[in-house]
Amino acid sequence: MTMLHGFKDSFLWGGATAANQIEGAYDYDGKGMSAADFVEYVPKEQRTGDNNMEMTSEKIKAILSGEYEGRFPKRDGIDFYHTYKEDIKLFAEMGFKAFRMSIHWSRIFPKGFEEEPNEAGLAFYDDVFDTLLSYNIEPVVTLSHYETPFGLTEKYNGWVDRNVIDHFVHYAETVFTRYKDKVKYWMTFNEINIINISPYTGGGIISDRETNPLKASYQALHHQFVASSLATKKLKQIIPNAQMGCMLARMKHYPYTCNPEDVLKAQHEDQMNLMYTDVHALGEYPNFYKKFLADNDITLDITDADLAIIKQYTVDYISFSYYMSLLSSTSPEGETTQGNLMNSLKNPYLEASDWGWQIDPIGLRIVLNELWDRYKKPLFIVENGLGAKDIVENGQIHDNYRIDYLEKHITEAKKAVQDGVDLMGYLAWGPIDLISMSTSEMTKRYGFIYVDQDDYGNGSKKRIKKDSFEWYKHLINTNGKEL
Ligand code: BG6
Repeated sequence: MTMLHGFKDSFLWGGATAANQIEGAYDYDGKGMSAADFVEYVPKEQRTGDNNMEMTSEKIKAILSGEYEGRFPKRDGIDFYHTYKEDIKLFAEMGFKAFRMSIHWSRIFPKGFEEEPNEAGLAFYDDVFDTLLSYNIEPVVTLSHYETPFGLTEKYNGWVDRNVIDHFVHYAETVFTRYKDKVKYWMTFNEINIINISPYTGGGIISDRETNPLKASYQALHHQFVASSLATKKLKQIIPNAQMGCMLARMKHYPYTCNPEDVLKAQHEDQMNLMYTDVHALGEYPNFYKKFLADNDITLDITDADLAIIKQYTVDYISFSYYMSLLSSTSPEGETTQGNLMNSLKNPYLEASDWGWQIDPIGLRIVLNELWDRYKKPLFIVENGLGAKDIVENGQIHDNYRIDYLEKHITEAKKAVQDGVDLMGYLAWGPIDLISMSTSEMTKRYGFIYVDQDDYGNGSKKRIKKDSFEWYKHLINTNGKEL
């Protein structure tokens, strides 16, 4: 038996992004609108929480009529649509082995339900992949990263409707066929669990159109599971050596105290978070989830054929985002803090970012060990990072806080490898500053590369290397050996 002392030679170092947070050009070259194009920036003083992403029928109507005065930063991103060649060159300079990006579904099928794809959209991604491959950077592609075409929301209220499965599979088949010689690593839905926290974000669902919104979000989730397995089936037919992954926003819950009631609650919340990877990796709905549905009087439309396809086409690897850990308590009194679309009680042992996300590097080692023990499938960290305000001083950005965060997390990932976990790679979230998913701010920056642009879209968009740029380059160059 050989144990690894560090990251394997083929370790996929790099960064991760989403089309809607970087590309801009929301209406160029035939692209249709997607869910993200309607998400508004609300200044901090006017926000009720971290998340302004839910949608109402009234708001959509007002936006569509042109009466609504708002700013929609994901329409403009950081203009990657026009700057990708220079941006990828900078990733290559850091030595990236992999770059995660999504295909904006509505660039390929503008409304989501057309038969024929939009050639200009396909050609754009051809060129992005060719540019990456010219530097030996593997594209890691997400099919759907909060980018449900708005046409599917209008026609079906998004993923609530079973018809969306066929449209997604048609889209997946189209891009697998087109990029079969260029892309080996795929994943279906970014953070698939978000659909039950924010149905609009995860599934293009306007909840006030549903009589039972909770049931609707779980029905939509079921459709995504079926669609994911059907896409995996297509992938294996079209690109036999390709790999399909799932993607979970891993939200590790610790018990707030050692009171067994708290421990039980934390276990339940953890099970509910892992349910998504259970289905993707093991091919079955777990019993605790069936009980959850029954306890909530939810009966879903699930056919035997659905269950058979979910069972047959499971994922090859498990990828996840990890930013923080959360606390579970049966008497949730005390100070709370914000998190990645979920708030938590404050953990007295942890510090938090300026946005309240609790920083817990050891939690990453715990999570890696648990996922490996549960599934015995290769794991891939496809998002991790610190959202922070950066200050430009004489043209430089000294982001030692970011280096500190990343170094601690990657060190724990290395310890997990030494524990025996099979880890494929590490992709830092937002290697270049981008629009925040939850707040649509620019101020919340994750990058090694600074983008001169503010929350209102003002700025030269000039790219500047931060101190973390050289640090990450060295880390990749030494394959993390000096940690
Ligand atoms: C993940 C998402 O939840 O967190 C990304 O997959 C997102 O899209 C990232 O950007 C960080 O969240 P935020 O809200 O700080 O942008």
